[in-house]
Amino acid sequence: MKISIVGAGYVGLTTAACLAEIGHHVLCSDNDQGKLALLQGGKLPFYEPNLAQLVAKNHQSGRLEFGSTELGIDRSEAIFICVGTPPLNNGEADLSAIQTVAREIAARARGYRLIVEKSTVPVQTARQIKRELALYGSNELDYEVASNPEFLREGCALEDFFHPDRIVVGVESKRAEEQFREIYRPVLDQSFACPVHAECRSRVKPAFLVTDTNSSEIIKHASNSFLAMKISYINLIADLCEASGADVEKVAEGIGLDRRIGRAFLRPGIGFGGFCFPKDLQAFVRIAEKAGCDFSLLREVENVNLARVPKFIEKVRQELWVLRGKKIAIWGLAFKPNTDDIRFAPSLAVVKQLVDEGAHLQVYDPEAMPNAKRQLTGVTFCDDLYSAARGAEAILILTEWEQFQRLDWERLGSLLHRKLVIDGRNMLSPSKEQMAAHGFEYVEIGRGSQASEPAARGTGRTANKMDAPKAVPIG
Ligand code: UDX
Repeated sequence: MKISIVGAGYVGLTTAACLAEIGHHVLCSDNDQGKLALLQGGKLPFYEPNLAQLVAKNHQSGRLEFGSTELGIDRSEAIFICVGTPPLNNGEADLSAIQTVAREIAARARGYRLIVEKSTVPVQTARQIKRELALYGSNELDYEVASNPEFLREGCALEDFFHPDRIVVGVESKRAEEQFREIYRPVLDQSFACPVHAECRSRVKPAFLVTDTNSSEIIKHASNSFLAMKISYINLIADLCEASGADVEKVAEGIGLDRRIGRAFLRPGIGFGGFCFPKDLQAFVRIAEKAGCDFSLLREVENVNLARVPKFIEKVRQELWVLRGKKIAIWGLAFKPNTDDIRFAPSLAVVKQLVDEGAHLQVYDPEAMPNAKRQLTGVTFCDDLYSAARGAEAILILTEWEQFQRLDWERLGSLLHRKLVIDGRNMLSPSKEQMAAHGFEYVEIGRGSQASEPAARGTGRTANKMDAPKAVPIG
């Protein structure tokens, strides 16, 4: 099918390349001429594992083209709207880009078009788009507006496209439903040659859920806010574990074994960030409140998340006392591993607070340095883990990059002023015996004093009352 993708961001470019890969002829457009020129030159405006190769392959085969939105509207049968819906100051989603595209389609399209909203949008946006088309569309335009939310995670977006749990489509007609079945057939059948895995682990056929447009739009917001709620929930549990001498990792394991709960998204840390959870949560609360519903539960999810950074800073203060003038290594700035995206990353809040308190930060991230350099000031940008550690009184781990697992502890120990690791993502828990053997102190989240072996509190440091962690007896 001839498909046009409007918007070449994380969702649009990934969707364009993957739809081309499964056999469609795709034209991807963006109103940012600089971004388009970059893409036409074979470069990507952001990092996403394996995406550059997939774009190049399909661009060379001619199945994926980059061009103007007008050309895409003229030449395609299905138009996917993948433009950004960033948060406004009041927390609502800014839908101006959506309206602009709807009016461009109305002004230009002749004949039938399946118009697909893939951007994350408030419920009833499809209805708004329909109204724009009815108001401004020519009488030669026949159309249907459908919802097809994306569930791509940054860092594993291709995996999530080719091996989704479900494809959700909100439609008003059997015709549109059949068109989606045609568009996604290779994914529904799992019949494509997988460009992500040499041999595919899972060839489980995804569910294909057909709903009305309003339900499909709510599914996206409800899904993201539920996942965010799971994260805030385990962070609350981590606080209780810390105060009561329990081990949050064991608790997470214990509750996660219940199939109704599941182990995923129960990792405690400095909180969730990225361009989805924080803004989708806020938008969903605003949507509900405008509809007259009390969503204070989700407001609390946001409040719990916002409290993670101050709690983490307090943990750093407990270990370093005065922060002013202290040299501290920061490992990880991206909001999660395998991306260069730092938008709404809690790591930025940690860095900004420490800089405000006068700490001297030496920062490193495997992919996010270019983005970080455009946004952070008052820090020293380092080229690798070890130079960030040089002379530091502590290493703070803020993003759980896999490469932080493979460390030369001897070398690290010789560089550090104090062999202390404060882990904002509990990623080095498995290595704490090895760290202790090299004289490191290791501080993590959600493990009260009795829970963590004495070694984890750091051999090579005489333990005294001041060191004893604050496990306050309950009751
Ligand atoms: C999310 C949804 O997972 C995806 O389905 C949707 O389409 C877009 O939003 P993404 O934001 O890319 O994807 O990342 P995700 O892996 O969900 O992580 C979001 C944030 O939660 C990250 O900051 C991550 O560090 C944090 N997180 C995740 C936790 O703190 N604990 C966890 O257990 C899982």
